[in-house]
Amino acid sequence: METKRVTIDAQKPEFQWIQEGARLIREGKLVALPTETVYGLGANAMDAEACREIFRVKGRPQDNPLIAHISDLDMAKKLTKHWTPQAALCAERFWPGPLTLVLEKTDLVPDVVSGGLGTVGIRMPKHPVALQLIQEAGVPIAAPSANLSGKPSPTKGSHVWKDLNGKIPLILDAGACAVGVESTVLDLTEEVPTILRPGGITKEQLEEVLGEVAVDHPSELQAPKAPGMKYRHYAPKGDLTLLIGERTKVISKMVEEIRKGQSRLKKVGILCTLESAAELHYHLPDLLYVLGSESNPAEVAGNLYEGLRLCDEQGMDIILAEGVSDKGLGFAIMNRLIKASGQKVLRV
Ligand code: TXA
Ligand code: MG
Repeated sequence: METKRVTIDAQKPEFQWIQEGARLIREGKLVALPTETVYGLGANAMDAEACREIFRVKGRPQDNPLIAHISDLDMAKKLTKHWTPQAALCAERFWPGPLTLVLEKTDLVPDVVSGGLGTVGIRMPKHPVALQLIQEAGVPIAAPSANLSGKPSPTKGSHVWKDLNGKIPLILDAGACAVGVESTVLDLTEEVPTILRPGGITKEQLEEVLGEVAVDHPSELQAPKAPGMKYRHYAPKGDLTLLIGERTKVISKMVEEIRKGQSRLKKVGILCTLESAAELHYHLPDLLYVLGSESNPAEVAGNLYEGLRLCDEQGMDIILAEGVSDKGLGFAIMNRLIKASGQKVLRV
């Protein structure tokens, strides 16, 4: 299949491309679209066959449900049996935005979208292209991140192109995504609202609106409630270790690992904060990617997947990533880094 990639204005999307995307969605085809978090691979959420194609293209496990993206509250209410007071509060405060609400689903939501669960994840994205596309299509758009399953999520049109060129008809390329990590997935079917996946809206922000908020901490004995969280996600090809601890110790350990790796003819890539970059640069890793200042987690989140992808593109065998504070948005960043490392976390 030939993939058309068009540049679309993020603030004032050209209507011609919105129309073309919406037509494809209505015809049961797939369209890659920008959201404020990451790019999504969209299909008509009410068309089971179109949604099955999403799973085929991504190579995604069948039991991993899709988020239904909506452009107004009426659309959301049609997808759920109970539009609860908590849902209304969250929608008022955080939509459009990086928050997905898990609620009891209606029969309008095909089983393929809910991964066979009785619930559906709903989100109103804060991106003019995504919102206008949903509006023009007139249907909710089911969209997982537009990467091949297991790869880091795409935060630029070029990332989508690399993963999906030849597999889908249209990519709407609006440049880089503002947030850079995926939405927070919040389960509102429990007595206490529970974060299934940390993301762009922080636990602290949710607590301000909802009071007590729990975090689903899957243990070895208990499966995570968001099926997607059990897969090794966000993973680069290289062997990634996450280093946590005092800066000077993290740097010393990284310097030691650069030497060890390079002496075995391995390419060693570093993902670090601005504060550690100058000193690490001096020790000549094969790639040094600055995620951002440790005082600016939004910047780190925005660069995270680009950094992971770059390590792959430049063939890093070993990747050493510097941990950041896990407060606020840092919680989502550390969640992704721990997953990318396959739990290889070194406390120094
Ligand atoms: O920011 C985002 O959420 C992006 C953009 C495109 O909106 N989408 C995204 O979708 O990250 P995806 O499919 O890559 O991740 C969705 C996560 C998965 O971990 C999935 O298991 C969980 O949300 N999820 C979706 N529906 C669920 C449900 N009904 N119950 C529990 N978890 C659910
Ligand atoms: Mg994903």
